[in-house]
Amino acid sequence: MDLVRNLFGSTIGRKLLMAVTGVVLIVFVIGHLVGNLQVFEDPDRINGYSHFLQSLGPALWAARIFLLVCVALHIWAGTVLAIEARRARGAESYAVKKWIQATVASRYMRWTGYVVLAFILYHLAQFTVGVAQPGTFKANLPHYTMKGAYRVLGVEVVRAGTDVLDVRSMVILGFGNRLVAVFYIVAVGLLSLHLLHGADSLFQTLGWRNHRWARGLRVVVTVFCAAYFLGNLAIPGAALLGVLH
Ligand code: HEM
Repeated sequence: MDLVRNLFGSTIGRKLLMAVTGVVLIVFVIGHLVGNLQVFEDPDRINGYSHFLQSLGPALWAARIFLLVCVALHIWAGTVLAIEARRARGAESYAVKKWIQATVASRYMRWTGYVVLAFILYHLAQFTVGVAQPGTFKANLPHYTMKGAYRVLGVEVVRAGTDVLDVRSMVILGFGNRLVAVFYIVAVGLLSLHLLHGADSLFQTLGWRNHRWARGLRVVVTVFCAAYFLGNLAIPGAALLGVLH
């Protein structure tokens, strides 16, 4: 009980919550990108992968609920920390430079966070529920018959000949609308910046900011965020260029 009170009731506890939920969400977005990049391979790959995920049933729902709780806690802790920081700055208004830096950083995190949240809501409506964009309504999507089996770590999880939803076509049709494709590119760009800045805050919380390998770590994080952006850009970008069909 004390642990819960400390986590939710103290600034350091909320920073820790922010960090832990942030790491969970980063792991998710990396896994999601790796899964999505299968769109560039044979249709068996991404369609089999999506069918496998859907077949997990209750485990998929448990993962969804867990992610949702992490998103909610991340937003809650971030909002409370921002309010606290603003109050603290009000009390120390003489520290002008620090104030300006902190305000720009937290404003920027807040706004990139809002756009990413709006993107996720649209994205869920478009691809998970399948109701946001007429061409990709899930109810009207074509089905696909698996040519071969889909395997995870060598284990067959979807058999050849299985009738699955054609998720690959859904993604390509979705990005057939240029406005949607550009919105995705802007949103994943802002998400990458959010990750870059979030990593800074994480290192600050962990006390690594002034460590002797802090500069090296910063380079690794910057390269990672750039690679993450390029990986995500590749899918709507390829659809816009007509490479993905
Ligand atoms: C180019 C980028 C992306 C593509 C092509 C893409 C594609 C997809 C597809 C096809 C699905 C539905 C899977 C299915 O029903 O089988 C999905 C679900 C989802 N995506 Fe993405 N995605 C992209 C980026 C992102 C990003 C950046 C985030 C998070 C910030 C994200 C979060 C989610 C979530 C939370 C789900 C719901 C998973 C579930 O069904 O439980 N996606 N995505």
